[in-house]
Amino acid sequence: MTIKENISLLPYNTFGLPAKAKIFTEYSSVEELRALLEKYKGEPLLHIGAGSNLLFTKDFDGVILHSAMRRARCVSEDADYVWIEAENGLVLDELIAQLCDMGISGLENLSYIPGEVGASAVQNVGAYGVEAKDVIESVRAVSIADGAERIFSNAECQYGYRDSIFKNSLRGKYIITHVVYRLNKHFEPKLNYGNLSSEVGSNPTPMSVREAVIRIRQQKLPEVSELGSAGSFFKNPVISHEAYETLTRQIRDDRVPHYEQEGGVKIPAAWLIEQCGWKGKSIGGAQCYPKQPLVLVNTGSATADDIVALAAAICKDVQDKFGITISPEVNYI
Ligand code: EPU
Repeated sequence: MTIKENISLLPYNTFGLPAKAKIFTEYSSVEELRALLEKYKGEPLLHIGAGSNLLFTKDFDGVILHSAMRRARCVSEDADYVWIEAENGLVLDELIAQLCDMGISGLENLSYIPGEVGASAVQNVGAYGVEAKDVIESVRAVSIADGAERIFSNAECQYGYRDSIFKNSLRGKYIITHVVYRLNKHFEPKLNYGNLSSEVGSNPTPMSVREAVIRIRQQKLPEVSELGSAGSFFKNPVISHEAYETLTRQIRDDRVPHYEQEGGVKIPAAWLIEQCGWKGKSIGGAQCYPKQPLVLVNTGSATADDIVALAAAICKDVQDKFGITISPEVNYI
């Protein structure tokens, strides 16, 4: 177990913001996690993963928890599936690389998403037509109040688009320690999203899909090691069919990009932001990324205030121009 005081969070947030934490702790087992929860009872707690979806707006006057549990093991298999249990601190992309190497499929479309297993199950990360929830069988979690362990089935996690029970009614109540994925022994490629199919080419394998996804992501999204960001800053809004009709009439264009969804029509926030003229524009050191306006980047000197101001200005313009509310998927701390 590691405990440090007054530590810089610069290495722990992909936006590259220089916030500080009063206490930073790292645990290597569930027992150590329980001991930390007991020791710091009553203190403000924040469990972080790779910090790839966080915006530290100020110093954190409490205890940061981080997992150093990074193993994965096979817990069951049958003729068609293999069940892999991964610990929360394992980097998701390292797990995916290993699985693709073994020809095990299900997670390959999520390649190259920055982040760790635990946070990816809270956030229900998604990309190229697959969401984490599609392969999560269950999660194991520890109660912050009393350290008790509880297993949540996929249904009990109440997954939605970038959403789960751990972001809603159980926010701040549990820490996910393990995720069990049900993965395929027989490859069924999911290549319907955008240009993925043509990028993959013929005779796809889990590894060739992974490599294609990485190529596409590298073309569109900034490398967090080079340019601070938290991936998509906003969620794509879902609007009603009536609102969509109004939108196409308003801009006299029926080529508004849209995807039919349960409950309405999803409009790419990237498109709405581009229409408002924000693509490539900056406030201070925060920039709306020119290749993908859904992403806000730290060009080097951004303060949290710059990023907050840029996000607010973008939301306001989208609201004023289209009457559509876009909301951040990034967590403001
Ligand atoms: N678009 C524009 N202008 C642009 C870029 C995109 O108008 O400059 C429009 C186009 O119509 C395009 C559409 O946006 O067809 C969708 O773009 P893209 O396929 O790049 O996906 P996205 O909706 O912008 C979502 C996820 C990404 C994920 C991709 C691929 C969210 C919030 N974001 O982005 O996730 O990688 O799909 O599946 O749902 C993340 O969560 O951090 C993330 C990067």
